[in-house]
Amino acid sequence: MTDPKGEGVRISVSDIQDRKGGLPIVCLTAYSKPMAQWLDPYMDLLLVGDSLAMVIYGMETTRGVTLDAMINHGAAVMRGSEKACVVVDLPHGTYEDSPEQAHASARRVLDETGVQAVKLEGGVEMADTVRHLTESGIPVLGHIGLLPQKAESRGGFKIQGRDDIGWKQVMTDGRAISDAGAFAIVIEGTVEALAREITETVAVPTIGIGASPGCDGQILVTDDALGLFSDFTPSFVKRYAELGEEVAVAAKEYADDVHARRFPGLEHCFGVPRDKK
Ligand code: KIV
Repeated sequence: MTDPKGEGVRISVSDIQDRKGGLPIVCLTAYSKPMAQWLDPYMDLLLVGDSLAMVIYGMETTRGVTLDAMINHGAAVMRGSEKACVVVDLPHGTYEDSPEQAHASARRVLDETGVQAVKLEGGVEMADTVRHLTESGIPVLGHIGLLPQKAESRGGFKIQGRDDIGWKQVMTDGRAISDAGAFAIVIEGTVEALAREITETVAVPTIGIGASPGCDGQILVTDDALGLFSDFTPSFVKRYAELGEEVAVAAKEYADDVHARRFPGLEHCFGVPRDKK
């Protein structure tokens, strides 16, 4: 367990912030109550990521998910967790227009789910929005580097920081989001040395995904790590289980049992005399 506070006390955003340079911050995504229940004892932070658009709903990008859907999943994850800090992604189209739009969306997320913070994608261009949110008491997890919501308009899912201009841009983004008051920053899909340098430069913890072992923490999409999402597996993912294969084995065994009338048995029925069960 990585719980620094003990049972029954939820890890706060300031606990996460205090982990800069300390014990690595352990994070996974969660979208449902049962998955949150399984993961919660071992996680510092559970992210209700908009990756659920692709992983749960089968959409082609993360851009199709609504704020209402994110709120429903956020509330479910809160019902299934008691220890981890829970953060909900602000989905595409709900925060980019103005700090006021972001504030209205983030306020709904916090009020209707009880989660501790929101995450939003973007660097320098989102710094005023991050400042507006944090100054009005809404904790923000930043997200820089490869930005899935913007991948289409930026020529696809490309590793960031391979050239000088790209490197400087992501570096500037990291500084801007840290200075604007984010309590931590997700760095996704950059060259390793860049994520390491950002981590050494900014005041707040960095949480890597396809980034660097030098980051202050690590996140993965749970369904990737557990072998539940099989459409594709990014090369930065380590598979810890093949649960999809186990589901298929169990489903086949169930189908075989029903076909062969091995299930249900009398022990699974009501009103059957005890001696017949
Ligand atoms: O949506 C998501 O799951 C994310 C993580 C990959 C960081 O943003």
